[in-house]
Amino acid sequence: MSEAKTGANSVHIERLRPEEIPELAELAAKTFSDAFGQEMDPDDLKRSLEENRSIPYFERSMDTSKIMVAKQQGKIVGYVQYGSVLIPEANASPEDREIGRLYVDTDLQGRGIGRQLMDLALADPEVTAAPNVFLQVWDQNHGAIALYESYGFETSGVTQFELAGKPAQDLIMVRHQHPENVG
Ligand SMILES: CC(C)(COP(=O)(O)OP(=O)(O)OC[C@H]1O[C@@H](n2cnc3c(N)ncnc32)[C@H](O)[C@@H]1OP(=O)(O)O)[C@@H](O)C(=O)NCCC(=O)NCCS
Repeated sequence: MSEAKTGANSVHIERLRPEEIPELAELAAKTFSDAFGQEMDPDDLKRSLEENRSIPYFERSMDTSKIMVAKQQGKIVGYVQYGSVLIPEANASPEDREIGRLYVDTDLQGRGIGRQLMDLALADPEVTAAPNVFLQVWDQNHGAIALYESYGFETSGVTQFELAGKPAQDLIMVRHQHPENVG
């Protein structure tokens, strides 16, 4: 791991290959648990990992979304996942797109890898062609919100959920990409 810490600049990003799904699922579970596990009820965390970070989840998602992985010395250290908008409250059109997941290995956060993944996703022709790009983020996730705001995302709504039995909310954020087409 110390070698990996010598520089985020050596990261390269490529499309996830099916044989890499177990490695990605492990990283996805770890980064999610590190980021949010302490806030969550253990049963909810377990269920969430099974539903959204497991090998079967990524097997299904490869067909319905694009998953790009950042690699350092052959090891997956982050990923971004994007595709059709799956946030019902967004009221999106079929041409709109969603950044569904953006995660970086906990030990390597804050070194520009998240920005590299985001740059790549937003430059994908499928995404540049979208009138609007949506994402959903916990309203207490100030680091991620700052990152998204730096790309022009703004809050367009909220969704409520329960976090360890207490009310919590996600922000729905949107980036309008073709202002001349809006309205
Ligand atoms: C959010 C995340 C993907 C960003 O990736 P990263 O590699 O750590 O971020 P970068 O080093 O590319 O930083 C990009 C920007 O993010 C913002 N940022 C990231 N972490 C931050 C923090 N802890 N506090 C404030 N801003 C932060 C800054 O605006 C930073 O801007 P800069 O490039 O001008 O410094 C990563 O920190 C992560 O995986 N976090 C845990 C999981 C998570 O929250 N995912 C998003 C769920 S919606």
